[in-house]
Amino acid sequence: MFDNDLAHPPDQRLAGFAQTMAVFRDPTAMAALSILRYPGPRLHTVAKPVAAVDTRIRDLVAQMFETMYEAKGIGLAATQVNVHERVIVIDVSEERDQPLVLINPQITWASDEKRLGEEGCLSVPGIYDGVERSTSVEVQALDLEGQLRTHKAEGLLAVCIQHEMDHLMGKVFVEYLSPLKRNRIKTKLVKQQREDERYAAKPAR
Ligand code: NI
Repeated sequence: MFDNDLAHPPDQRLAGFAQTMAVFRDPTAMAALSILRYPGPRLHTVAKPVAAVDTRIRDLVAQMFETMYEAKGIGLAATQVNVHERVIVIDVSEERDQPLVLINPQITWASDEKRLGEEGCLSVPGIYDGVERSTSVEVQALDLEGQLRTHKAEGLLAVCIQHEMDHLMGKVFVEYLSPLKRNRIKTKLVKQQREDERYAAKPAR
């Protein structure tokens, strides 16, 4: 997920269950992965559960954080880097120092109270639109040690978790919009991607 305005009141930010994993801010860490763009069929792949939280998954998580921070995102699902396993990384803090990893996440409770908020997505660059989401959720997920943890989230974090969980199901936020809006977005992004590719193909001088 991409947040256009990180200046949210503190109560909307990560409550108090941040996992401190300074290792992921290691500047010597590996290069960022490329992010799939909408519309692209691979974004609609349903992710499989992670079988074991091993070195391969920990390396993937490290690379996903690198990719998310470099792209100035607040959340990234493995689907978006073309890995179709249930892994999500999130950091909604303004200081970019509260990484949260969710492996095989399941929403165990969602509030009936919903709110329409503006969302963006690293796979849908430059597009922001309103999506209605539960204002609070409870999610169970494995951490990097393979331990099952329960997280209660509200505000921006709750929205971000729901947005990223959709990615794991092959759903992009623009699919909540009207077909008319969605088609406009598709056309715009296809055109933009073509221009980007043409630009990239040109020699530097
Ligand atoms: Ni997204």
